[in-house]
Amino acid sequence: MPIIAPSLLAADFGNLQAEIEDVTGAGADWLHLDIMDGHFVPNITFGPDLVAALRPKSRLVFDVHLMLSRPEEFIAPFAAAGADYISVHAEACIHLHRVLQQIRAAGCRPAVALNPATPLTVLDHVLEDVEMILLMTVNPGFGGQEFIPAMLPKIASLAAILHQHNRDILLAVDGGICPDTAREACRAGANVLVAGSAVFGCPDRAAAINALRAAGG
Ligand code: DX5
Ligand code: ZN
Repeated sequence: MPIIAPSLLAADFGNLQAEIEDVTGAGADWLHLDIMDGHFVPNITFGPDLVAALRPKSRLVFDVHLMLSRPEEFIAPFAAAGADYISVHAEACIHLHRVLQQIRAAGCRPAVALNPATPLTVLDHVLEDVEMILLMTVNPGFGGQEFIPAMLPKIASLAAILHQHNRDILLAVDGGICPDTAREACRAGANVLVAGSAVFGCPDRAAAINALRAAGG
């Protein structure tokens, strides 16, 4: 069964605590927190202070997705804020291997995120250093976009690489995930489903989460 990680980006920003309580009661496994800097992506969200303020309100795993230029400058504050997983974009890291070590040294689980057009070969020399790969299935920056079907063979190729690698590394997909795309993504090998609109955009969050889990199961 896939891990379900609702993305807070699609929640009501005026009622974050209630929104988090709602998806927790509805059976979410993780909470996905999208951090955008207006530079790496054309949008801005929130920073470590908000993550720290939410941390005591929730027992969910905090999956922090850094869509930032120079992410190495922000690992310490997000670790201190209570991140469990920290994903950095390979495209934003000049020294990807070093940043992954930095995340682990800060006490968090390191993950690499890849934009749709970024080839899997950038992962060749860092698989020993990650707990999760997050494949973007839309171009990052906004919720509510359509899943890019060309990402299905990419998911399958990565699943084969991870299988060969013989270490438990999670394969997350992020962007345009709804029950239909979740089914195809999980068939291709995904095991973490990040979903914003498909969960927070639905009045019955338990039904939304169950539908994703069933589709991917
Ligand atoms: C997009 C973010 C996603 C976003 C997904 O840049 O990384 O996590 O919240 O939103 P949906 O599920 O609506 O495509
Ligand atoms: Zn995300």
